[in-house]
Amino acid sequence: LKEHNKVTEATNFYGNTTPAALVEEFGSPLYVYNERILRERCQEMKNLVDYPRFSVNYSVKANGNLSILKIAREEGLNADAMSPGEIHVEEMAGFEPSQILFITNNVSAEEMRYAIERNILISVDSIPQLETFGQINPGGKVCIRFNPGVGAGHHEKVVTGGKKTKFGVAPERIDDVKAILAKYELTLVGINQHIGSLFMEGDKYVEGVQSVLEIAKNFDTLEFIDMGGGFGIPYKKLSGQPRLDLKDLGERLSAVIKQFVQEYGREITFKIEPGRYIVAECGTLLGSVYAVKQNYDTKYIGTDLGFNVLKRPVMYDSHHDIEVYRAGSQPSTKEEPVTVVGNICESGDIIAKDRVLPEIFQGDVLGILDSGAYGYCMASNYNNRLRPAEVLIDLEGNARLIRRRDTLEDIVRNFNF
Ligand code: LLP
Repeated sequence: LKEHNKVTEATNFYGNTTPAALVEEFGSPLYVYNERILRERCQEMKNLVDYPRFSVNYSVKANGNLSILKIAREEGLNADAMSPGEIHVEEMAGFEPSQILFITNNVSAEEMRYAIERNILISVDSIPQLETFGQINPGGKVCIRFNPGVGAGHHEKVVTGGKKTKFGVAPERIDDVKAILAKYELTLVGINQHIGSLFMEGDKYVEGVQSVLEIAKNFDTLEFIDMGGGFGIPYKKLSGQPRLDLKDLGERLSAVIKQFVQEYGREITFKIEPGRYIVAECGTLLGSVYAVKQNYDTKYIGTDLGFNVLKRPVMYDSHHDIEVYRAGSQPSTKEEPVTVVGNICESGDIIAKDRVLPEIFQGDVLGILDSGAYGYCMASNYNNRLRPAEVLIDLEGNARLIRRRDTLEDIVRNFNF
């Protein structure tokens, strides 16, 4: 088992405690985050580009836990928001309005007002929404999301740039954009894009940046360009998948930026908006094995890790490496193909299908690696199950509860009797 569990062993992920002790103390399933890894990832992104006016907006949708946000802020990151709810938590975490960018997609006038009243800059992603913005806030500053036609991502559901997606304003509408800006005396201070989530090669990202810079040259009022997120992490580490080459990507981006600044004639700020890269690898989801059974020709490992807790495998066929933890008994050296399932009433409730793992027994604890991004935030109460607790392993190696488990009261709290 130790040999198989080389990822968390190598990083001393659980600090002064163990997976079994964590589950014992805080219950199962349980999201566990390692603060040291989180801080390291923040710094890697901050150092990506060699250009003085460079900043990182943490894309809070990936993990909106207040304690995580506070750490990201301490590390000098700014934040993206997708909704008033995200803005609310960012304010609680201490982000200033000037550190928040509200990236909208089909929002109401009320939602726009929520940000405007707080002095938070809005990025609009269509001509009608620019018109709505102008009506609400004539003379204001605004940002526009463009879609230069380049896309990338780990699954078609998360490719957000390109000709077949709902996002952004197409470059051929630049004249219409200019007309609306003029009509409402708006100042375009920023443009942004996001080609999609999870690329492991930098080519598409650089291509996307180059296209958005071409668009930028049409506007002389810009204060910043936000190049987007999507930086991938290796979900198949245990099989030796290499990391994204940040050094190479950073050098290419620095060159493109310097070239642009020369042509544009003045320095502006460049931003990125990573979510997954910041938080995925600092998180492991722990769960318990309650039943091991052979059903016809499949060996099922029955756990409490249903898709109510981690949706990614079911929604995108995503792979998460799995570690097996056993307290007390001698580990088995046997490996075998198993299908790891949850406790939800659907046969598609599968975390890992036909995966070769060390022999697993009832009572073992499983660690679903790289679950810090799009894990808890996509969890639900399906089957009236309680969303799990979240724990942080701090820099001293101690475990601290950062969100309590749902209670039965949480499940019924919104009923109107
Ligand atoms: N900026 C915008 C405008 C976005 O829509 C997103 C993600 C990001 C930044 C951050 O992307 P990241 O750096 O995390 O790749 N639930 C999916 C991922 C959906 C991403 C949606 N947008 C998953 O579990 O893979």
